[in-house]
Amino acid sequence: MTPVISRIVQALEPSATMAMAAKAKELKAAGRTVYDLSLGEPDFTTPQHICQAALEAMEAGHTHYTVASGIPELKQAVVDQYQARHGLQFDPAQVVVANGAKHALHNVFTVLLNPGDEVVIPAPYWVSYAELVKLTGAVPAIVQTRQEDDFKLTPEQFRAAVTDKTKMLLLCSPSNPTGSMYSPEELGALADLAVEHDLLVVSDEIYERLVYPGHTFASFATVRPGLAERTILVHGVSKTYAMTGWRIGWTISPANVAKAMGGLQSQETSNPCSISQFAAVAALTGPQDCVDLMLAEFTKRRDLVTRRIAEIPGLSCAEMGGAFYAFINISEHLGRSYNGVRIDNSTQWCLELLDRQNVATVMGSAFGAEGYARVSFATSMENLEVSFARIEQFVAQ
Ligand SMILES: Cc1ncc(COP(=O)(O)O)c(C=O)c1O
Repeated sequence: MTPVISRIVQALEPSATMAMAAKAKELKAAGRTVYDLSLGEPDFTTPQHICQAALEAMEAGHTHYTVASGIPELKQAVVDQYQARHGLQFDPAQVVVANGAKHALHNVFTVLLNPGDEVVIPAPYWVSYAELVKLTGAVPAIVQTRQEDDFKLTPEQFRAAVTDKTKMLLLCSPSNPTGSMYSPEELGALADLAVEHDLLVVSDEIYERLVYPGHTFASFATVRPGLAERTILVHGVSKTYAMTGWRIGWTISPANVAKAMGGLQSQETSNPCSISQFAAVAALTGPQDCVDLMLAEFTKRRDLVTRRIAEIPGLSCAEMGGAFYAFINISEHLGRSYNGVRIDNSTQWCLELLDRQNVATVMGSAFGAEGYARVSFATSMENLEVSFARIEQFVAQ
């Protein structure tokens, strides 16, 4: 007998970023030198004081189950950080610590969405949003934003997307994959519509600390009074502290939502790794100069990537205010032939680039935007120099 996979999982697209990274690894294993711009994880090591806290947690015997929704120390550290950075006051009971922000989002959608509910998701979007929404039987209502609007959802577009089934708006600022950021005013205009239509807003703020000079981050819940009652904030340590493997993320939500997510997690996964939770406390409460150092390095890379994209004929991108991605418009290069192979879409473009020049990127179609390719600049300046020289050669062929 061949077991039949459930309809809901059959409809699920595997993560394209992970698939491209796996392909790049495969080629590396086969002996090729691959310049990997596909994965969204900082190339720095986790700061030493955070690793030390993990060792101390193990020595102190914190190696057992914790409360399913997270240890009180970490919930308090999260609340203190939002208070200090954004003046927002939350109760630790509103925090649910999950196995990464991806899992936190899964919790949010599972406890809030019913089959048929619609979630407005501006495209380009992070690869997992639409798939995680679909897992609940709800429907992603994708709204195509424009490069000339810096890939930001306009109030007109939001209004036009709302139906009587709309339950939620999903925002990500700074954005993966475009690096664009909403100003407080822009968020305010979207918030007004969310209030008018009585919608929930999920604000993925995981790149909050990776914001480039000249840009200002605003947490969604701060842009109008009273928004916290309809907002779910999503955050984590992966990107800020180079802790992708530790798997700690969290949500701050209205208390009843947090209670439901805690209950769900108690059945699904129990607590996130106890040792990682103690390391995350050290990350949030310890010295923050590591974050500044990483940001300074990312800033240099962002400047290099911006310059190189502008220099290469036929490529362009929106300004990157935060995160560590460039979403490159490659549409002028589609519909052409490279050494006799016609390239019509971003998947073919990325696969040919990998095959001919050993540079791994991710096709825009995976982020809901054909005609683009995402590069991650979470890699060294040297790798970026070589990669862009190769991209330049590729498009010149
Ligand atoms: C926008 C966004 N949200 C959430 C996540 C998930 O992060 P993690 O599960 O590592 O905390 C990522 C990771 O790439 C991301 O880019």
